Amino acid sequence: MDLEKLLTDRLTPAFATVAGTPVDPVVRRSQRADFQSDAALALARQLGQSPQAIAAEVLARADLTDLCSAAEVSGPGFLNLTVADEVLAGMVSALAIDLRLGVPVVTEPETVVVDYSAPNVAKEMHVGHLRSTVIGDAAARLLEWLGHRVLRANHLGDWGTPFGMLIEHLADLGEAEAAQELSIGDLDSFYKAARVKFDADETFQERSRRRVVALQGGDEATLRLWRLLVEQSERYFLTVYDLLDVTLTERDFHGESSYNDLLGSVVEDLDRLGLLRESDGAACVFPPGYKGRDGEPLPLIVRRTDGGYGYPATDLAAIRHRTGTLGATRLLYVVGLPQRRHFEMVHAAAAQAGWLASPARAEHVGFGSILGSDGRMLRSRAGGSVKLVGLLEEAIARATAMARERNPELGEAEAAEVGRAVGIGAVKYADLSSDRHKDYVLDWAGMLSLDGNTAPYLQYAYSRIQSIFRRAGLVARPEAGISLAEPAERALAFELVGFGRVVGEVADSLEFHHLTGYLYRLAAAFSAFYERCPVLRAERPIRDSRLVLCDLTARVLRQGLYMLGIQTPERM
Ligand code: ARG
Repeated sequence: MDLEKLLTDRLTPAFATVAGTPVDPVVRRSQRADFQSDAALALARQLGQSPQAIAAEVLARADLTDLCSAAEVSGPGFLNLTVADEVLAGMVSALAIDLRLGVPVVTEPETVVVDYSAPNVAKEMHVGHLRSTVIGDAAARLLEWLGHRVLRANHLGDWGTPFGMLIEHLADLGEAEAAQELSIGDLDSFYKAARVKFDADETFQERSRRRVVALQGGDEATLRLWRLLVEQSERYFLTVYDLLDVTLTERDFHGESSYNDLLGSVVEDLDRLGLLRESDGAACVFPPGYKGRDGEPLPLIVRRTDGGYGYPATDLAAIRHRTGTLGATRLLYVVGLPQRRHFEMVHAAAAQAGWLASPARAEHVGFGSILGSDGRMLRSRAGGSVKLVGLLEEAIARATAMARERNPELGEAEAAEVGRAVGIGAVKYADLSSDRHKDYVLDWAGMLSLDGNTAPYLQYAYSRIQSIFRRAGLVARPEAGISLAEPAERALAFELVGFGRVVGEVADSLEFHHLTGYLYRLAAAFSAFYERCPVLRAERPIRDSRLVLCDLTARVLRQGLYMLGIQTPERM
């Protein structure tokens, strides 16, 4: 049970009585005492009394004796609350025997679709797909750990007009040659070569157009070539996922093409519901409230003039499938912010059609860009987009060199393993620890630093705790009595019992920087504790109590980092 909530539940009725209306006591952690409530200040004018008088009356009415060792009014009318040592110690003891670390399994599990990663076939994954993959995977891991049924949907861009030119280029190259080129992950040069031919050669353009028609018409020979493209690309994406240590598998590929058979009936449904309007020969939905610069209603084009279906139609079909067939009630779209309008309109149209009706809802989990050190969009030296794999390999190389240098005792194999965990961890953490709505600057030195709000710092804190136990040949006894006489012990205990609250909030907001911020505070509280409070040199029962604090810190760090997709090596 979280302390903010316990205290809030005690103060709420007292405030209501004093104010005559419901009041949120806004309990939060404080420097002055353990917690503070400033709600009396806001009530002063309304009640025509001094905040101090209001706070004093609330205190007189609130039943806090079993929770707090001190509760007082201070300054202009703050309520300062000090939690009783036995209460905090009791909570730590409960945590020590709780495999869930104070994060209960949800009572009402939902089916959640997490739409993430979604690179495009025969195109290199770029850094935007990195963000989607990292954030989406964290969402999937966290919600799954809470007990939800999570369906990962990798909405691969595997359909549409570019495939005419790609298939023609493939046919020109010959299947064996093309497969070779694609398998080494040289997707961009394949794509570019096709593009160059398309732009330069009119007969190639014409052939490409005919290919699109053949592809959409289900021509067997064309489909075979198309499948080759998709399979080779998927195979390549899987190697990236493996390197990146994300939970996406081949079973999660649900590319745009997989909705083809549904598109016709989606258009029929929309038509039957009276939602379709023709505009310049295209079939459109006009979700209310969306206007272009000229003030004209903005169309969502469901079927183009040429009869083809595009990106919006596929997304509408996917929604109908996800809520209707899969029974999902929460749909997450982990896609960059430039697509915000697209998702707003698609979700509005789906709501109009009744495919997104309460309790089902959709959220665009948007994110900003990754910038280079010059503060501009990340670019390679040649000015092209940065190849994701190159970035990951660089992170691993840097972290492996660091591991070797820091700990010469690590064997080659272990150094490589640590380097991988730390390098990939650093990339993911840098992403997840920045507010996803904003852009962030990729900074190698910063993200690999061993102090500061970084993955290596947290991984190091974890491995340091493991080494305490290793050195002493000891294990923590969860049933040991907990003593919190030292301020550093209390501070650490408050962080430990706060895990459940943070996880609950992040499950709603999917703002992972709140989870990283929490883990960082926890690790910092641990290091202050470890500096001031000897563990192995302490006498029992203090030693036993401190070993429990160490062990709990390690377990929370490991579980927290696991949900971010970050490994915790035992040694570093
Ligand atoms: N393939 C798209 C891109 O690279 C992202 C797809 C996102 N998911 C979706 N359901 N539209 O931009």
